[in-house]
Formats: sequence, structure tokens, C-alpha cells
Amino acid sequence: MFCRILCCLMIVRQISASSAESCPEFPPVNNSVFVATEVEGQILGTYFCIKGYHLVGKKTFFCNESEEWNVSTTECYLGHCPDPVLLNGEFNSSGPVNIGDKITFKCNDRYFLKGSNWSQCLEDHTWEPPFPICKSRDCDSPGNPDHGYFEGEDFTSGAVIAFYCEERYRLVGTQELQCIDGEWSSGLPTCKWIQEAPKTALQSGLEKALLAFQGTKDLCSATENFMKRLQESGLTMEDVKYFLETKKAELEAKKCC
Ligand SMILES: *[C@@H]1O[C@H](CO)[C@@H](O)[C@H](O)[C@H]1NC(C)=O
Ligand SMILES: *[C@@H]1O[C@H](CO)[C@@H](O)[C@H](O)[C@H]1NC(C)=O
Ligand SMILES: *[C@@H]1O[C@H](CO)[C@@H](O)[C@H](O)[C@H]1NC(C)=O
Ligand SMILES: *[C@@H]1O[C@H](CO)[C@@H](O)[C@H](O)[C@H]1NC(C)=O
Ligand SMILES: *[C@@H]1O[C@H](CO)[C@@H](O)[C@H](O)[C@H]1NC(C)=O
Repeated sequence: MFCRILCCLMIVRQISASSAESCPEFPPVNNSVFVATEVEGQILGTYFCIKGYHLVGKKTFFCNESEEWNVSTTECYLGHCPDPVLLNGEFNSSGPVNIGDKITFKCNDRYFLKGSNWSQCLEDHTWEPPFPICKSRDCDSPGNPDHGYFEGEDFTSGAVIAFYCEERYRLVGTQELQCIDGEWSSGLPTCKWIQEAPKTALQSGLEKALLAFQGTKDLCSATENFMKRLQESGLTMEDVKYFLETKKAELEAKKCC
């Protein structure tokens, strides 16, 4: 650009002489064009950077009742669009960007690209499509669940870790998780306390009877003692049979699954 400072005030809408005069001269911003418009009785000023420069800061200001522009720092910097950025990756551009410049993006090893692998600087000083990001292929340590832990030290993509719970805790969820492109294949499992079923009267009565049976040496008096204890607990042989059958069913259910 030949002119270093290019500022011009364009009254786009008819602004009454008094209000236009009453606002002071807008603060100059190098390499910009300033356009003032009247919107609902208020005078708005907008900075547009010239070709080859892009704006950093606020774009629009207004002239308020005390007749001052609510201006803050605004600058037009070299490069028609802002400099591209890509953390953990690279692109084929250096120096100021011009209209129509097309750049391509590439991520570093162990990172993968999410988004478009190219972008172009448009006339309105923006990049389109928007910049991609480089995501790590590795996962973060998932951390131990309460009352549990995991085994495995490799958190790179493809690695598998397995979860375990402390004694008397049961794993709820998926035991093995795989790291796939920076994300664990499913949510962390949890360890649930295995609740001890409260002892039923039948169970405790039976236990007492069995203790009596075991505590006696000869089979005859052992059986006698057993039956006696059973009666004391108000249990019948029918109850014992029922209890043993449910126990058997429980054990079989456990064995099969
Ligand atoms: C604007 O340009 C002039 C002339 O090149 C320079 O002296 C001045 O420091 C610039 N202002 C800003 C804020 O960069
Ligand atoms: C000035 O006022 C306009 C209109 O309310 C607002 O959009 C703009 O953000 C303000 N600028 C600053 C620097 O406060
Ligand atoms: C007008 O803007 C100036 C600068 O931002 C501020 O100091 C002043 O208080 C504003 N006046 C009113 C009436 O809003
Ligand atoms: C970047 O590379 C792409 C594809 O090779 C090319 O079209 C583009 O012009 C390059 N951009 C710059 C600024 O060198
Ligand atoms: C960009 O991605 C397209 C498909 O999405 C692919 O065909 C092309 O080769 C990629 N370009 C570069 C430079 O990686």
C-alpha cells in the first residue's frame, strides 16, 4: 500500500450536521478505513483494515452522549488474514498472508488432524474452512476407580488396560479399555460394594443346628442335637429341604454364568 495512513470518514447514512460535528475526530488506526453510520440515532464507527492487513481488537465503536468514541486499542497488522496457528503440527506458510493464499496442515507424529487439512484466506480477512486441531493419539491415564485399580502402563493408541476391584467389591462396567486415537473405548468401570444378604431366621437357625451337629462326636447324638436345635429355632425338615434346594439353585446359577 502506498499510503501509510489511510483513513477516511464516510457518512453512509444522512447524519445531521450537528451530531456529525459534535463527535470528535475518530482516533486514527494505521492501514484502516473508518466508516461511520447512523443507527437508531446513534453514530457507529467501524474500522476496516485495508488489503494485506488484518484487524486485532474491537471493530465497532459508537459516539456516546458525552460525545466521545468508546474507543479501545485497535490495530491493523500486516497479513490479510491472521497468521495461521496449529499446535503440534505444521503448515506451509511463513510471513504475511495475502488474499486467496491456500495453506495445508499436517500434524506431528503421535497426533492426528481433526478438521480440514487446508484453509484459504478470504477477502473478508477470515480463514475458510476454519483451522483444524492436532489431537494426541495417546490417552491420559484413566486413574483408579474407588476401591479398584487398573493394570497396564501403556496408554498409547491401541494399548489395552484392565480393571480390577478390591475384595468384596464387584466390577460394574467394562473390564478392559482400549486407547483409540486419544480416547478410551468406553467409560471407566466402577467398583460396587457386594452387599451381604441379611441372614434370614432360617439361615441362622440352620447354622446353629449345624454347629451342634459338628460339635458332637458320634453320629447318633449329633443327629439328635441337630434336630433339637432345629426345633428350638422353630424349623422343620421341610424348611431345611427348601433351604438346601435354593442354595443348590444359587450355586448352579453361579456355575453356568
Ligand atoms: C502508524 O504509522 C505511523 C507512520 O508509519 C507510525 O509512526 C506510528 O507509530 C503508527 N502507529 C501505530 C499505532 O503503529
Ligand atoms: C462500543 O459500543 C458499541 C455499541 O454498544 C459496542 O458494540 C462496542 O463493543 C463498544 N466498544 C468498546 C471498545 O467498548
Ligand atoms: C462516553 O464514552 C467515554 C469513553 O469510553 C466514557 O468515559 C464516558 O463516560 C461515556 N459517557 C456516557 C454518557 O456514556
Ligand atoms: C501449500 O501447499 C499447497 C499444496 O501443496 C499449495 O496449493 C499451496 O499453494 C501452498 N501454500 C503456500 C502458502 O505455499
Ligand atoms: C487432505 O485431505 C484429503 C481428503 O480429506 C486428501 O485427499 C488429501 O490428500 C489431503 N491432503 C494433504 C496435503 O494431506
